Amino acid sequence: MKIKGILETGKLEEAISASSLDLERAGVLPNERIVFRLTFEEILLLFNEALDTGTCFVVHSKKQRGCYFLTLSIEGREADPFAMESPILKRLLDSTENKPKWEYRGGKNIVSFCFPLYNTLWNNISFAWKYVGKQRGILIMSTVIQLISVVLGVIAPVLSARIIVQSMNDNVRRVVAIAIVLAVVQLVKNFLLVISNKGYNKVVCETLSVLESDLVMGALRIRNKCLEERGSGLFIQRLTGDTVRMASGFGRIADMTAQAVNYIGILLAMLYINFWVFLLTLSLLIAESMIEIYRTRKLYADDRIFRSANEKFSGFVGEMIRGVKDVKQLGAEEAFCNEAKKRVGDANDKRLIMQGNNWTIKLVRWEVSELGSLIFITLLAVFMGRGIIPVSTLIVLYNYYMSLDVRAVTLAGEFLEYAKDFSLSVERVCAILHGPEFPKERFGDQEIKDPKGGISFEDVTFGYDLKDPVLKKRNVLEHFDLRISPGEMVAIVGKSGCGKTTVLNLLCRLYDPDKGRVSLDGTDIRSLTKASLRSAITVVNQNPYIFNMSVKDNLRIAKSDMTDEEMREVCRLASIDADIEKMSDGYDTIIGEGGVNLSGGQRQRLAIARSLLQDYRIIIFDEATSALDNVTQSEIQKAIDLIKKERTVILIAHRLSTVIHSDRILYMSDGRILDEGSHEELLEKCEPYRLLYQEEGV
Ligand SMILES: Nc1ncnc2c1ncn2[C@@H]1O[C@H](COP(=O)(O)OP(=O)(O)OP(=O)(O)O)[C@@H](O)[C@H]1O
Ligand SMILES: [Mg+2]
Repeated sequence: MKIKGILETGKLEEAISASSLDLERAGVLPNERIVFRLTFEEILLLFNEALDTGTCFVVHSKKQRGCYFLTLSIEGREADPFAMESPILKRLLDSTENKPKWEYRGGKNIVSFCFPLYNTLWNNISFAWKYVGKQRGILIMSTVIQLISVVLGVIAPVLSARIIVQSMNDNVRRVVAIAIVLAVVQLVKNFLLVISNKGYNKVVCETLSVLESDLVMGALRIRNKCLEERGSGLFIQRLTGDTVRMASGFGRIADMTAQAVNYIGILLAMLYINFWVFLLTLSLLIAESMIEIYRTRKLYADDRIFRSANEKFSGFVGEMIRGVKDVKQLGAEEAFCNEAKKRVGDANDKRLIMQGNNWTIKLVRWEVSELGSLIFITLLAVFMGRGIIPVSTLIVLYNYYMSLDVRAVTLAGEFLEYAKDFSLSVERVCAILHGPEFPKERFGDQEIKDPKGGISFEDVTFGYDLKDPVLKKRNVLEHFDLRISPGEMVAIVGKSGCGKTTVLNLLCRLYDPDKGRVSLDGTDIRSLTKASLRSAITVVNQNPYIFNMSVKDNLRIAKSDMTDEEMREVCRLASIDADIEKMSDGYDTIIGEGGVNLSGGQRQRLAIARSLLQDYRIIIFDEATSALDNVTQSEIQKAIDLIKKERTVILIAHRLSTVIHSDRILYMSDGRILDEGSHEELLEKCEPYRLLYQEEGV
């Protein structure tokens, strides 16, 4: 890409938009593109202020050695934009690792950006090849078998031409003999084709099962923050459509290669028969292939943009279906429809552009092809008229040309189209497993075999990341200190939004603190292995998720080797046993997606039972009993009293009545602990706590 322009004209906007689009086409990550766009705009504005109006600028971009380079050069006196003390530019540069560079050379200010591309074609192919794994032998065998069937395919037109010539000579016996040979050739060819396709199918199925299970594991390793930002629609698409395209990729490519060999064979046969006819055919093929290559390249670039718009739509629909109850109860159907219309409209606009370009270029190719056929037939007629070729050769050449004309050219396009689809799918699958777009959770290597359950937060500051890097991040916790001894039962109370759930998110390492440290038994949780951390803490969430499986299977998620006795015991402790026994199939009753056929309180109690199964040292209840009535609540309270003997228990609750028996109550406000003590102590010394208690009227 190259754009020339003058500062202070509409060209500036054009350069910014074109460069951003170019970055998107090259596959630069979305976050980097946002930062780039803002940085580029700011740099142009700074130059605009520092240099004379009417100064010429040039934007130039290229892909090289796995990197994407973009350079902006502006004529005029020396002006370093990074030394111009722009606070916006400084903040933008702080938020990216791909910092641009400036230099003054040959009377020009040159700013260069460099983005490493992790999804180059070579990386994609080697990633996919790795997944073919043990099936490589079968893949190679199938390709060889297919090549043999292709060679038989080249012989067939020669035999059919012979049949025509011999019939013209009234040689019946020869005709029958050649027809038998032709039938045998076709039979063997078909047989080999089926064998090779069965081989390809095996490769696809085996690759798919390894790939899809790896992808599920990969998706579970992605950091929470990223999963929340990207939505589930994207993962569903990649886990279903893209994996199939990737797994079938090598088979299809091998299949196409074999067909290409077939066409090369035909071309060589033409060359042997007549050089000029061969030359004309080759030139026509090259001309049509060039048009076809241009079409697929354009399609590839447009498709990347369309898919990204479509992902935004499918993600939105997925979310809408999951939250359909809330949407209806809020009467938000219209707002959702409007948003859906906007997103689908955007995706369809992109699709329309893509398809429009595609058809126009296809039309050009078809017309060139028709013109080519006319020239070819004229040439054959002239050669035959002058006695250069006999009728039989004319038939063979015509047969060859007809089998090449349409298919050989479409194959080049088809191959590129498929390779593009394959590469894009590999890129999207690979991104989930290894791409920087989907950062993975990282754990340390320190193990705690028998955790005691001591917890400490030391001077922790934390804020959720905002999508827009220019906006200022707000800290949810600031200089937060907390120490909980092993076996203690602590309650955290405070107004909604003060950061209670955030505390437990940090403790489970769903997020990492920006400053300070969180430790378990004195060890920073960042240095613990995943198993040590996850098997020390269990959480009953504010909104527990119940899966679309039987009650028993929902419990088994927490402990795969659970016995029936254990299952009944935890259900009894969580006061859900009677409810389950009343269900149609008892413990085998299937619960709808998200637990739809359970009441809010039943969901909470089932989640409590699930956590009790995990005999972990620390158990956290985050508003886990908010939907329960007073009687059930007191039943659960008894269960908590039972288990607290050997465990550290953290209760997060709005209703103070549920926490007054805790060893210690912490009152949180605006991301800090305002006061702490027993219920009686807090009533005495902490005004907001007293007010909260009085409001509740317990
Ligand atoms: N994933 C998130 N991304 C961005 N901001 C968040 C996220 N989760 C919570 N917040 C913000 O962090 C603040 C603290 O949220 P948190 O869930 O910790 O509150 P809470 O004390 O548990 O409230 P409640 O009692 O209502 O559950 C809120 O202002 C909330 O808007
Ligand atoms: Mg909360």
